Amino acid sequence: MSDEPRPHRTAAVIPAAGRGVRLGPGAPKALRALGGTPMLIHAVRAMARSRAVSLVVVVAPSDGAAEVRHLLDEHPLPERTEVLVVPGGDTRQESVRAGLAALPPDVTSVLIHDAARPLVPVDTVDAVVEAVRDGAPAVVPALPLADTVKEVEPAAAPGEPEPVVATPERARLRAVQTPQGFDLATLVKAHETIAVNGEGATDDAAMVERLGTTVMVVPGHEEAFKVTRPLDLVLAEAVLARRRATDAY
Ligand code: CTP
Ligand code: MG
Repeated sequence: MSDEPRPHRTAAVIPAAGRGVRLGPGAPKALRALGGTPMLIHAVRAMARSRAVSLVVVVAPSDGAAEVRHLLDEHPLPERTEVLVVPGGDTRQESVRAGLAALPPDVTSVLIHDAARPLVPVDTVDAVVEAVRDGAPAVVPALPLADTVKEVEPAAAPGEPEPVVATPERARLRAVQTPQGFDLATLVKAHETIAVNGEGATDDAAMVERLGTTVMVVPGHEEAFKVTRPLDLVLAEAVLARRRATDAY
């Protein structure tokens, strides 16, 4: 027996199997273009930009794995980065599980990153990786909220008035982003132990919280926003245009 700590190997899993219903009709969201390049390619590059990430697993729409493989071949990554493609599931949680199942046994920690957050800066990725390597079993980047948040009793039909139930103190709230970083064994255990029905878990850290494990928050970044609705695409195009003008991005 050796007391040597196991060497770290960090992989990134990118769930990209969603349709993007809230963005409106068209190709699956991850395949839509941003500055002429598919959103998914931006997200993969954002992970590969971190020197800590040596493997990226892309979870593709179940009928689109071949197309995604082709796109990745057309947009090569740095030589140090290996890429795998696996088909996704009906919920984000199932897609994440499919990505985790594809990880080789030498991976010790994992980042889960939404394909729909194509513009996350590498400094945010590195901050999450570092906190996990420093011993936190689960780490999420997050920002304080601009809006006050109300808890309501949801109306039966959309657009109907809804009674307010509570107003949580805004200063204690954070809006959570990705990549979320985990000790791999902890996240796998959460997936094995906790089943979330219906839409499944939309946040990986929440599954780890249910194990009773403490999740740590590190500062997120406003450019790590999720492209969800049409207006988010306008913002993403503007951020990309500014980067291309100022940093030869
Ligand atoms: N995702 C996935 N598999 C699913 C559903 C979602 O891999 N069955 C991924 C999406 O591709 C996205 C990320 O999870 O990168 C975050 O989900 P979200 O922003 O909700 O994307 P969609 O589910 O595609 O969008 P919508 O909810 O508007 O349909
Ligand atoms: Mg969704």
